[in-house]
Amino acid sequence: MEHSKEQELVSFYDNKLEYYSPATTEQLQRIATLVNAPTEGKMLDVGCGDGRACHYAVNHGMAYTGIDYSAKRIKKAREEFGYGPELIVGDVYEVLENSLPQYDFIWCCELLEHLEEPERIWRAMQTLCCGMVVCTVPVDMPYHAHLQVFKDDAAIHEAFTGITRLTHVWCPTPGGNMRDHFVFTWQPSN
Ligand SMILES: C[S@@+](CC[C@H](N)C(=O)[O-])C[C@H]1O[C@@H](n2cnc3c(N)ncnc32)[C@H](O)[C@@H]1O
Repeated sequence: MEHSKEQELVSFYDNKLEYYSPATTEQLQRIATLVNAPTEGKMLDVGCGDGRACHYAVNHGMAYTGIDYSAKRIKKAREEFGYGPELIVGDVYEVLENSLPQYDFIWCCELLEHLEEPERIWRAMQTLCCGMVVCTVPVDMPYHAHLQVFKDDAAIHEAFTGITRLTHVWCPTPGGNMRDHFVFTWQPSN
């Protein structure tokens, strides 16, 4: 694995199996409805964690592939969803840049801020997308596992070129607060 700071975080993710993200069934469906995300075909979940977004695929009858480099989070996903979904333990750079098929819905929730080269994964997702890429990133949130902090819309546009649509969603945290997230999409122009 080529990114030393990301490599150092693997054990952190392995040991933090309970975590907050807007990929819960209710919040993901709310975001998907907002951006009119695909509801059929194949879904790719980039940095899938414990696979909680797989509920969306199951609910819509979509095929699901999840990738995460935390073997423990993938194990948790496997325990919940069995061997139906494809769950890959791997580094997103290596997996995405090595001949996956095309996907209708590429979901990338709370991953890009954890990467040393987020723009590289943003571009890799586009090469694999025949429908829509949907990303979420927390707004202006310093945290030790966040290798990037995006303060405002201008910072998102500067980091991720070619965005089709940028909006915001506020999602409830387990502590009862609301947190602001960027939600941005990319669709092939045809
Ligand atoms: C904040 S969690 C979000 C997980 C999931 N998307 C969700 O919303 O429930 C970030 C995830 O990215 C994974 N991750 C970070 N860097 C990665 C990399 N280079 N390759 C694969 N997974 C990575 C971590 O293991 C972690 O599960």
